[in-house]
Amino acid sequence: MSDLLWQKSGIATDPRIMRFLAGDDVLLDRELFVYDIEASKAHVEGLANIGIVSADEADPLVRELDALAADFRDGQFVLDERFEDGHSAIEARLIERLGDTGRKVHTGRSRNDQVLVASRLWLKAKLEGLRATCTAIAEVCLDRAGREVLPMPGYTHLQRAVVSSTAMWFAGFAEAFIDNAWRARQTLELIDANPLGTAAGYGVNLPLDRAHTTRRLGFARLQVSPIYTQLSRGKFEMAALDALGAAVLDLRRLAWDLSLFTTAEFGFVRLPSQYTTGSSIMPNKRNPDVIELMRASYASVAAARTEIEQLLSLPSGYQRDLQASKGSVLHGFHRGLDALALLPDLLAALEWDAARMRAAIEPAMHATDVAIEASIAGVPFREAYRAAAEGAGETGQGRTPESSLAARTSPGAGSDLRLDALRTRLAELT
Ligand code: ARG
Repeated sequence: MSDLLWQKSGIATDPRIMRFLAGDDVLLDRELFVYDIEASKAHVEGLANIGIVSADEADPLVRELDALAADFRDGQFVLDERFEDGHSAIEARLIERLGDTGRKVHTGRSRNDQVLVASRLWLKAKLEGLRATCTAIAEVCLDRAGREVLPMPGYTHLQRAVVSSTAMWFAGFAEAFIDNAWRARQTLELIDANPLGTAAGYGVNLPLDRAHTTRRLGFARLQVSPIYTQLSRGKFEMAALDALGAAVLDLRRLAWDLSLFTTAEFGFVRLPSQYTTGSSIMPNKRNPDVIELMRASYASVAAARTEIEQLLSLPSGYQRDLQASKGSVLHGFHRGLDALALLPDLLAALEWDAARMRAAIEPAMHATDVAIEASIAGVPFREAYRAAAEGAGETGQGRTPESSLAARTSPGAGSDLRLDALRTRLAELT
């Protein structure tokens, strides 16, 4: 292993214990590494602004940091167990290349604010990706809601209830993902604060140019209290996982619907074959594994959130426990975003079986419309309800799924889909 940043005389280390302390942290730091390097550049510039490093020192430091990022991206530099963590790797490289100038990079910073700034930058990028994916999903849903109104049963308790349509189904998920995009944006705003400059959690006796690092790294504001920067670790990851979880929760429901709709029993939906797999033993099978793994992704997001919540049983200040949140948040985001990313194309490609859906609409499913129409004509609703219940078989006479939908969902009707209102909201989030 490279020299430990904190090594001093009289300190013993044991390789087995060092491995336990590191865990897989240095490998997880690969994900944060380029952000850590970006933040290191901003820190160096800030140090130059207050005269802690000269321009002759800052220039090579920034140049070497850029070179490290480039080498890391093209695989020339591998971040691995040779280093205690990504932070140590950056400092080791600067010292190797620049000697004493490299030894200045850590002036006024701690790995505690270093890991926080890299994590916040990483999460901001992920939340931006979440927002974009949610708007892409909502766009496909709105497009399909506007193009085809195929009648289908609407269910409550998984029992046939009232006439619904593919447009209503898509419009429902469109609004859900518009909310999810909004939530991703709000959460990004919450996280958009710069912790760099708070050091180990108590500030430092230097007039660090925090305004510069905030601007340079694209943060909207400073995180003011050094104590709160540490208190917020875990909490901001949980907020991000909550935003992701809201979207993946809707994905889980949508996947559940498709899982039912693609069964022979329902037969409402056909998935293009690339979304299915075969069975190793049953030659007749095509299985909808993609939607099943989409549904499963919620478990990873929820587990990540729970793990972090459990870790946060801590007093104030940095505790090494906090390192253990890194794997959860990285894993949860990979699973959730990978699953969501496939959804726009899947939704665009799925085919409805109009005849199967129409055949599943029973005349009795008009009973609610019948009762309400009678009550418009002056019959007290409860009486109209009983009459419709008793005549359940005949209530559908002369009615079509289209007439039922028109009475509820056409423009100006009670459940007007108001796709334009949804489009306006979506445009604000895109
Ligand atoms: N890998 C550590 C983490 O993620 C970096 C901070 C280490 N700080 C310390 N005081 N040991 O938390």
